[in-house]
Amino acid sequence: MSGSRVVALGHHQPQRVMTNADLEKMVDTNDEWIRQRTGIATRHIADDESVADMATGAAAKALAASGLAPSDIGQVIVATCSAIDRCPSIAAQVAGRLNIPAAVCFDLNNACAGFCTALATADHTLRAGAARHALVIGAEKMSDLADWTDRASCILLGDGAGAAIISATDDAQIGPVTWGSDPTRNNAVRLVGEWQPRFAQEGQAVFRWATSELPAIAAQACERAGITTKDLAGIVTHQANLRIIEAMTRKLDLREDVIIARDVVDSGNTSAASVPLALSKMAERGELPSGQPVLIFAFGGGLSWAGQVITAP
Ligand code: UT7
Repeated sequence: MSGSRVVALGHHQPQRVMTNADLEKMVDTNDEWIRQRTGIATRHIADDESVADMATGAAAKALAASGLAPSDIGQVIVATCSAIDRCPSIAAQVAGRLNIPAAVCFDLNNACAGFCTALATADHTLRAGAARHALVIGAEKMSDLADWTDRASCILLGDGAGAAIISATDDAQIGPVTWGSDPTRNNAVRLVGEWQPRFAQEGQAVFRWATSELPAIAAQACERAGITTKDLAGIVTHQANLRIIEAMTRKLDLREDVIIARDVVDSGNTSAASVPLALSKMAERGELPSGQPVLIFAFGGGLSWAGQVITAP
């Protein structure tokens, strides 16, 4: 097989919705500031659910939608930076709960860029013939990492999971990955504290970097897929801030009818879950332009980035 394609998607979000009004009671903030600076209106918070619970919920839906049997899955990768469990991996726990009998299972931490990194890793595995079908998940419980006394960061974060089943094919429907990192900026987004890590970032620096560097990275991912940004039917970038999404897409030469994911408004920043969560929710609403090119990509701690053009399932 010379390529792979996304055959099915699924997602899981915890039931509890935290509004900006709820946050006003916790820290010195207000709905107007949060909406104006980030676009975020709500985020979902997992109370009793773990990263493994959310990952399993998303994966079960993707597996059911794919029509494949658990025994068809040869690889499970969970992208996460918030899972507390180190061994067994979250991927192995998902395989156990879904009765996936013999897959290679591992977790991958590339912070917010984790899902696109994992998708590329699975694509490379399938191209190499080391599996025929893979389950790729982004799952995060960012509420565990939030400093609920820090208004600059806690208002951003949310919990959830998104999953994709990918299968080997003769035609490549997952384009070549564009990925990398800038280690001179590896303090820009970070977890502070070993036993009770807390999310922290240099917000303005990351904002400036994202709005200036990401358009070229996005265009490069298109070029590597043999298309231009004008050919894109959809764009699903990391859901960190609506202003970043809008500034970045304004700088790209796009079709007027291109569909742009804005799930950050409802879900906040869910790190490695943000891209598959947004993709799967768009698919569920019938908004994903099936059979057409969609650019997915994400950036975050590292600073690292990863993205590719996929054919929408
Ligand atoms: O997923 C990882 C990748 N990360 C990102 O993409 C994050 C990129 N950065 C951002 O999205 C934005 O920088 C933030 C949303 C994090 C912050 O927005 P900003 O416009 O850069 O605000 P700021 O940090 O410059 O703060 C402006 C003002 C400050 O007050 P003074 O010093 O001007 O009086 C803050 O103290 O807003 C204040 N502030 C708040 N006020 C009300 C900060 N947080 C809040 C808040 N509510 N929650």
